Amino acid sequence: MNYNKKTVKDIDVAGKKVLLRCDFNVPQDKTTGAITDDKRIRAALPTIQYLLDQNAAVIACSHLGKPVATFDSYVKKQAEKGKDPASITEEEWKKSLAKLSLAPVAKRLSELLGKEVIMAADVVGPDAQAKAAALKPGQIMLLENTRFEKGETKNDPALAKAMASMAEVYVSDAFGAVHRAHASTAGVADYLPAVSGFLIQKELEIIGGALANPKRPLVAILGGSKVSSKIGVINNLLEIADTIIIGGGMTYTFLKAQGGSVGKSLLEEDWLDYCNDMMKKAKEKGVKLLLPEDTVCAKEFSADAEPITVDSMNIPDDCMGMDIGPKAIAAYADAVKDAGTVIWNGPMGVFEFPAFAAGTKAVAEALSKSSAITIIGGGDSAAAVQQLGYADKMTHISTGGGASLEFMEGKELPGVACLLDA
Ligand code: 3PG
Repeated sequence: MNYNKKTVKDIDVAGKKVLLRCDFNVPQDKTTGAITDDKRIRAALPTIQYLLDQNAAVIACSHLGKPVATFDSYVKKQAEKGKDPASITEEEWKKSLAKLSLAPVAKRLSELLGKEVIMAADVVGPDAQAKAAALKPGQIMLLENTRFEKGETKNDPALAKAMASMAEVYVSDAFGAVHRAHASTAGVADYLPAVSGFLIQKELEIIGGALANPKRPLVAILGGSKVSSKIGVINNLLEIADTIIIGGGMTYTFLKAQGGSVGKSLLEEDWLDYCNDMMKKAKEKGVKLLLPEDTVCAKEFSADAEPITVDSMNIPDDCMGMDIGPKAIAAYADAVKDAGTVIWNGPMGVFEFPAFAAGTKAVAEALSKSSAITIIGGGDSAAAVQQLGYADKMTHISTGGGASLEFMEGKELPGVACLLDA
């Protein structure tokens, strides 16, 4: 895939109407609806500010959550959850949509920009059309949640065309959503000249650069609970990396595949052969594949459980692995010490419980001290690095969870493929 895409600087946006796709899919408090983390809004600011400075009229858009766009599908979904379809009202469905309005994002964005953000009541309906038509250079508006339109996730050309009709240029800065082939992330590019914003440009340069032409040695640290969710990444990185470090819940399927006893640890029986094949493949390719020599386990999955350190191949029957042990920490820290590039995706253990956070913390600390280019995949690893206080010590923390994972799998990203080549 070609990651060398035209950016907002390669196209004339002065005085033009620009449709800007952002990833404003921000976490919100379940009861109050308050935005609990505005990082994604802040991440879009450089592109927005640039466009406004160029005197463009910015029509921003984004999805938020997974609203159900029609009443019929809402009834179906609720019925699947065991609710009596007859008891479901249209009012209830509308309330579920209202919770996913982008209005709170418009308010936060306006505070951050220090200027008014005009909020549209719909995506391509009369209010959005009228506000877009009246929008002046240097002004910004935000369309309502793109997933309120049923055509969004289906990449419906009619919706894409209607969105595109409001603007003259399409800029995508929604890195977190580039793995989705939706109307607002890919479809609109069929109707407008399409370029990337600064956030996508940075993600492509750093992650794309590390995958295509890494400063070596390239060390990949892969954690997280399931082997099955990391297969694509392991497969792709086996072709590129010099060392692959395994941690987190998926470790135990690898250990079991090697003949170890894993007690009550997470295990994916169906993936034992795959793990063996991967270890064989790594050997053939001369890729070092490191498993933890020791493991911190516990008798129950609880923050108060007593941590017990054991040899990884002999986890007692009544215990489950919760973190990598001190010997593994030393070996993993040593492996990243002289790395040229480190890509980290997935925590080493249950870092949310302080008694089992040492492995994840030690890896974060080792990365913070290393002179390597350090790239943290979005999602859990990004959350861990932030929670443990190492965020500003990393070269790059991706703003995409699923998107950065699919990028590391080597998959084509529809929201990038649709942009003009540089
Ligand atoms: C994310 O939060 O990873 C992106 O915004 C994509 O969201 P989605 O998984 O709902 O498509």
